[in-house]
Amino acid sequence: MKHEIIEKNIGIMIVLIILTISGGFLAEVVPLFFQKSVNEPIEGLEPLSALEQEGRDIYIREGCSVCHTQQIRPFRAETERYGHYSVAGEFVYDRPFLWGSKRTGPDLARVGGRYSDAWQRQHLYDPRSVVPESNMPAFPWLFEDRVDHTATEAKIRTLQTLGVPYTDEQVATAAEEVRGKFEIEALVAYLQQLGTVISETR
Ligand code: HEC
Repeated sequence: MKHEIIEKNIGIMIVLIILTISGGFLAEVVPLFFQKSVNEPIEGLEPLSALEQEGRDIYIREGCSVCHTQQIRPFRAETERYGHYSVAGEFVYDRPFLWGSKRTGPDLARVGGRYSDAWQRQHLYDPRSVVPESNMPAFPWLFEDRVDHTATEAKIRTLQTLGVPYTDEQVATAAEEVRGKFEIEALVAYLQQLGTVISETR
């Protein structure tokens, strides 16, 4: 049988596997590089402010994305609960993206504006004081530690180099914007803008 020849000959097998994967890559992945809806920001999308960007780094550092996704799938059950499904153009400035793959807690793609700043702070300080059955960890140190402003300018400049449309002035004032701020302020600022560019269904 021809199939047996392939299965017993690792050389042919390797070549055929490479051909199959390249074909799939050409058909599925390459077109995305040229597709406008995937590469261009949606209307109204602004780069994060320096404070929000630092908040995003804290979000990454604290492992929030281990329990929270930031991607609403286009299913009724998801859009009823979380709002408009996520579109690619919302994430073009995200480096790295934080879509996540595991929902221990709810999706946060459109959590911006859903709760007050005070609620967010209380919840992060002591989740069970506002949601008694919560198993989310508390993050009290965010209320004591200040944002490290020494690397902020370099971070924003790096993003600018990568194509995020920051102005030179935004780069120059980045460190000043976050200096002296508590980490909790940066994190809440980040959370409160999440997904707010598209919000008509909420
Ligand atoms: C161990 C898993 C886990 C981690 C880590 C975690 N969370 Fe949660 N989170 C949850 C669970 C479970 C809930 C639902 C119960 C609740 O509201 O407390 C939740 C709820 C939330 C909510 C409310 C969402 C809504 O729509 O009601 C926000 C906002 C939130 N988390 C932010 C964060 C942030 C920011 C971090 C990182 C600093 C974080 N979480 C880390 C598990 C986690």
